[in-house]
Amino acid sequence: MERTAPSSGELLEIAVELARDAAATAYRMRAEGVSVAATKSTVTDVVTAADRAVETQVLDALRRLRPADAVLGEEYGAGETEVAAGGVRWILDPIDGTVNYLYGLPHYAVSLAAEVDGEVVAGVVRNVPTGEEWTATAGGGAWRDGRRLRCSTETDLGQALVGTGFGYDPKRRAHQARVVAELIPHVRDIRRLGAAAVDLCLAAEGRLDAYYEKGLAAWDQAAGALVATEAGLRVAGLGGRPAGPDLVIAAPPALFTPLHDRLADLDASGGP
Ligand code: IPD
Repeated sequence: MERTAPSSGELLEIAVELARDAAATAYRMRAEGVSVAATKSTVTDVVTAADRAVETQVLDALRRLRPADAVLGEEYGAGETEVAAGGVRWILDPIDGTVNYLYGLPHYAVSLAAEVDGEVVAGVVRNVPTGEEWTATAGGGAWRDGRRLRCSTETDLGQALVGTGFGYDPKRRAHQARVVAELIPHVRDIRRLGAAAVDLCLAAEGRLDAYYEKGLAAWDQAAGALVATEAGLRVAGLGGRPAGPDLVIAAPPALFTPLHDRLADLDASGGP
């Protein structure tokens, strides 16, 4: 049965409240000491007790507040809930930047987005140790601390500071490193900060000029990509495809084509 979805503003309000509570849990657990609970795709792809605790906390809150909604989370997946037409699906990364969390590097975030009919309409990314909080609604702009965000106005790829990241699979990392080695002579510099959601938000306020990465999951990019888009970046994949696991490119309109074409030449979406 078709349902009427709440407005994107209402969904954002819920997302922000839950992300703040989740960030408080992650922060407290880090202060108490971090332990690796398990590994996933490779031995360096870790899950901490906090990843699980934060995801469980948000799942419980959503079940209470919005029992009919579906949830896709990094640690526990999609569960059983089907998304009805007009229904809401929440996309959660309990801690994006888990390796930074493990090492105490101040660049890890709770990322929570709400999707209606396959379109992300609201999202929040909260950098846990700094308290920076980026929000966006579809058509309603991207914001941090009451300030509307605009992306970089850089037009020359040679002057652009470009963020990127690496997956956990060693073969994929080797391919990604080859791409970076060929790209770096053509840009100002490269940053690998370690949390894709935050990277996208930094691009939204021009603290990075652009960002790209192969291999991102929906939870890594759903909220951050909305923030970036609403700040004026073009967010897409190669050859007119939407951004997805093959490649996410987020760049201001003037930088998009030059960066896209370089990445296409370097086969950035190829390899394992
Ligand atoms: C990772 C981070 C990292 C990116 C990886 C992601 P996780 O997410 O976003 O910056 O390069 O591709 O898997 O594992 O910390 O949630």
